[in-house]
Amino acid sequence: MATDYIGKPKNRIEGRDKVTGAAKYAAEFHEPDLLHGVVVSGAIAKGRIKNINTSKALELDGVVQVFTHENTPSLAWLDLSYKDMDAPPGDPFRPLHSDEIQFNMQPVALVVAKSLELAKYASHLVEVEYEEKEHDTKLIDNLEKSEKGIGLRAGFEPPKSIGDFEKAFDSAEVKLDLEYFHGAEHHNPMEMHASTVIYEEDGNLTIYDKTQGVLNSRHYVSMVFGISRKKIKVLSPYVGGAFGSCLRPQYQLFMAVLAATQLKRSVKVELTRPQMFSFGHRPITIQNLKIGASPDGRLKAIHHSAYSETSRFEKYIENIVNWSAKLYNCDNIEEKYRVVPLDMYTPLDMRAPGGATGVYALESAMDELAYKLKIDPLELRLKNYTEEDKSQGKPFSSKTLKECYRQAAERFGWENRNPEPGSMKEGHQLIGWGMATGIWDALQMPARAKAVLTADGKLEVGSATADIGTGTYTIMAQIAAETLGIPFENVTAKLGDSSLPFALIEGGSATAASVGSAVKSACLKVAKKLLKEAGKLKNSPFKGADLEDVIFADAKITDKKNAAWSISISEVMKKREIDKIKKKYALIPNMLKQNKYGRNTHSAVFAEVKVDEDLGTIKVTRVVSAIDGGKILNHKTAHSQILGGVVWGISMALEEDSFMDHNFGRFINHDLAEYHIAINADMPDIDILFVEEEDHIVSSVGAKGIGEIGLVGVAAAIGNAVYHATGRRIRELPITLDKAM
Ligand code: MOS
Repeated sequence: MATDYIGKPKNRIEGRDKVTGAAKYAAEFHEPDLLHGVVVSGAIAKGRIKNINTSKALELDGVVQVFTHENTPSLAWLDLSYKDMDAPPGDPFRPLHSDEIQFNMQPVALVVAKSLELAKYASHLVEVEYEEKEHDTKLIDNLEKSEKGIGLRAGFEPPKSIGDFEKAFDSAEVKLDLEYFHGAEHHNPMEMHASTVIYEEDGNLTIYDKTQGVLNSRHYVSMVFGISRKKIKVLSPYVGGAFGSCLRPQYQLFMAVLAATQLKRSVKVELTRPQMFSFGHRPITIQNLKIGASPDGRLKAIHHSAYSETSRFEKYIENIVNWSAKLYNCDNIEEKYRVVPLDMYTPLDMRAPGGATGVYALESAMDELAYKLKIDPLELRLKNYTEEDKSQGKPFSSKTLKECYRQAAERFGWENRNPEPGSMKEGHQLIGWGMATGIWDALQMPARAKAVLTADGKLEVGSATADIGTGTYTIMAQIAAETLGIPFENVTAKLGDSSLPFALIEGGSATAASVGSAVKSACLKVAKKLLKEAGKLKNSPFKGADLEDVIFADAKITDKKNAAWSISISEVMKKREIDKIKKKYALIPNMLKQNKYGRNTHSAVFAEVKVDEDLGTIKVTRVVSAIDGGKILNHKTAHSQILGGVVWGISMALEEDSFMDHNFGRFINHDLAEYHIAINADMPDIDILFVEEEDHIVSSVGAKGIGEIGLVGVAAAIGNAVYHATGRRIRELPITLDKAM
């Protein structure tokens, strides 16, 4: 059919606007008399503000106000039960709430001025005197102060042990006991966090916010400032990079709304690049893997435990240790997870939070086991392949991992590998081939959507979700166009607007399965209504027909059995004198059905590295990644999505590392000159395949969601390749040349 769009490699609807600059981001909205706010960051990790002197800043002509904890109205944070949609257990950080300093670079003042330059200059004139207390930011020194890493956080599970690890490990013939470590990472999206608050005469607020959830931001503003939701509109039509960084409302939103409501003026606050290092990071973890196996490579026992950082005020929880019982056929698995409260800001979700780091350790350990047993690493995985999620004793809703392994290995040429480390050489370059598996959750969340068909043949679909560059606009339009059988060009997708139907924060790789299915169902309701109206026409063959009896395609309704029975959609609307059909759908995942299955995406990642034997420089030269992500809704945007995941994985494996200077309790490499991110010149040939299987348990559109899976497993595959190249096992990320030498 000419109107079959699902799966097709459609260009992003908003692509042109983005590359031509027509797409505006949160800090790019202007209006006359807009005020600019600049945040003053604190200089100590713990203690209190003894004195804050704003008079020099206020003396400047054009500085309108300086907000500090001393003049912030007590109205803010009235309701202490407030939590955002992505909040871990604990109390959220409250900017300018008191004189207490809880972490370094904590915002201590907001300078508001007529121009950005003036606000910046004035921000340096704010004098702060502190009373310092002793801080502690070292994970390794405080393991005995750790707390159980379980609590209430949506989408995050407590560890699930099965069988009897101790006994099985004791009796295993082959044993490994390994420790893994990785540094902290910070979000560095191109677009820095910003909020532009337009203050209207009647006190209504229109807020352009960098967020993955307009409703989350609206709820925050409503709860914190005691403003009715009806008076607040939050918009985020475009998001310049997110992946967890803007799941939670960040302090620039608080600052901008505070200033706007106090001054009754429109205000913009944009954080600086160094301030992007002040509100959460992928936490350092120390992980222990103990694996017991038989000499022929059957897994007998796995222990996976982790310690990770959190703040003193929130208990940040991830799924770090929860993967081995979902990934391997082993009957005795012990999972332990503890968090250590420290004097830092609460860690923040970063693409595949917990999975990216936990699976790194697990898949590195599996590689070590393969070498110890002298079994091919791929063969070892296949030997322990599981058709059920052992952590729950349930089958998978779908799983094509075996085929992912096969296709990716073939594409990579894995069979030509010489297993001996250091054996494959090209001049001074040691060549290493490594592989690893990835796994992530395939979730569906509640979501609402609307669909409005007008007599001119145009369809609008909408939901208050976000498109963080992943292609959400485009897949919404593809699903809508195909479901109603109308041309793609006639569909408009709306999102990033708090007045649209409810959607949760865009995260957890759940948007396609959730919002995509809601859009489909809303369109099916429109189709049903159209069919009913078609049945009312004179001598209609569609009288009493069901949706199953007909096809919606090529802008027509056609009987499945008799193609001659066909009528155009526009004719139905015209003859029945209908201007508009508007339908809404509220998707509530069928948990009774879903809970009978393990629901996961998987990947098989193969990597080649070249390590200079004299200099230790490491270059990733090839990556093949095969993805089990259910039905792929758009092969172009999905390909880009996985490509981005692999790029991120290379960056994670070799480059990214936030250094905390524990003397100050502060991250010191807080700009892009010193916080290294992989760039184009670091990128190899990246080959991506999808092994599709429609998963109608996870979603009616058959998709499992691929936002995060592209990253999981990549760092382990690279680390394993470095071992194969050099014979050096580096159990620490990033793998920098000093460690590889
Ligand atoms: Mo993702 S870390 O759920 O944006």
